Amino acid sequence: MGHSEIESKADFDHIRYAQLWEDADVLTDALGDCAGGTLVSICSAGDNALAMLTLDPAKVVVVDLSPAQIACLKLRIGAFRSLTHPEFLELTGSRPSKRRAELLTRALEATDPETSAFWAGLTPDVERYGIGGVGKFERYFRIFRTRLLPFVHSRRTIDEVFAPRSPDAREVFFDTRFNTFRWRLLLNVFFSRFVMGRMGRDKAFFDHVEGSPAQHVARRIRHAGVETDPSQNPYLHWILKGTHGDALPMAWRPEHYDTIRARLDRLDIRPGSLEAFVSTGEKASGFNLSDIFEYMSPDVFAQVYGSILSAAAPKARLVYWNMMAPRRLPPSFRGEVETQHEIEDRLKARDMAFFYSDFVVEEVLA
Ligand SMILES: C[S@@+](CC[C@H](N)C(=O)[O-])C[C@H]1O[C@@H](n2cnc3c(N)ncnc32)[C@H](O)[C@@H]1O
Repeated sequence: MGHSEIESKADFDHIRYAQLWEDADVLTDALGDCAGGTLVSICSAGDNALAMLTLDPAKVVVVDLSPAQIACLKLRIGAFRSLTHPEFLELTGSRPSKRRAELLTRALEATDPETSAFWAGLTPDVERYGIGGVGKFERYFRIFRTRLLPFVHSRRTIDEVFAPRSPDAREVFFDTRFNTFRWRLLLNVFFSRFVMGRMGRDKAFFDHVEGSPAQHVARRIRHAGVETDPSQNPYLHWILKGTHGDALPMAWRPEHYDTIRARLDRLDIRPGSLEAFVSTGEKASGFNLSDIFEYMSPDVFAQVYGSILSAAAPKARLVYWNMMAPRRLPPSFRGEVETQHEIEDRLKARDMAFFYSDFVVEEVLA
């Protein structure tokens, strides 16, 4: 107990995700009323645990197997404490800056020596890309943007993606200007060899997806370009432009800065597995499980799911994504949990982190 299946398999020495690629607006809405409760969140880069503070919980227990990912959250805590909001956005990479090294130093003064040493070693990358751009995942997006995208779309076309338009006008722009032959060719190349191999995703991940992986991705890009508004999409903006425009991820928005800052002490950071939290006997009223179930075999998933239920208060919600592998309420627990289809459908329709194939909200019966 307390030991995770993937703990021994993966290399956690580096930052994989330097920012959260899961939509916190959707997450916090799905969690419902959590005021005064205990929440549990996978850390990743920490942004969604921070966003969960806006729900006014008594505490957010944050877990992650990766010390590098925990260091992302600890740096953010230092940044919230030491920087103004405009400075914070310079440090993240959302806004241009020539003084990120100085901002990083100031943020690190409010952290522990280990976190400080870890991030100090990343200073040149932080200066160039911001703290939100230094992970492996962001590096793949950068390669895509700087080495491949220019062969397909001009800078002007990319800029025009983010002009506000009506849904009808979005469709016309997408079909006539964006979804060109070259673009489709690029998707086919990038999503056959590059991402699938280099991102360490097993080909089996795509088995349940209709058509080829590239076709799946093309459908999701249509969601980002037509069904939702690109001018409001911070993830698409970063992927295509390497920074943010007007739209920001929830925890980085000005209106939440002071609230989050005032509640930082409610974060209870526990480096280690989710399974370790579950074995403490504490009960939580909401779980942000990221897409961790995809990394488990179906059997292990069912087993871990059962142990999460033993740590869940009545009416607790389990919220998670699937990128490629299907993971939903294991049949053996059907009598204990109810899938919240209406909430899922409503939120899937506005999920700006468009690359996931499924979004799941399940509620423990009272
Ligand atoms: C599953 S990954 C997905 C990242 C994500 N899609 C994003 O946008 O950031 C998120 C984090 O989960 C952590 N993780 C995976 N399985 C875990 C487990 N069983 N317990 C704790 N953390 C886990 C990884 O270390 C990683 O930092």
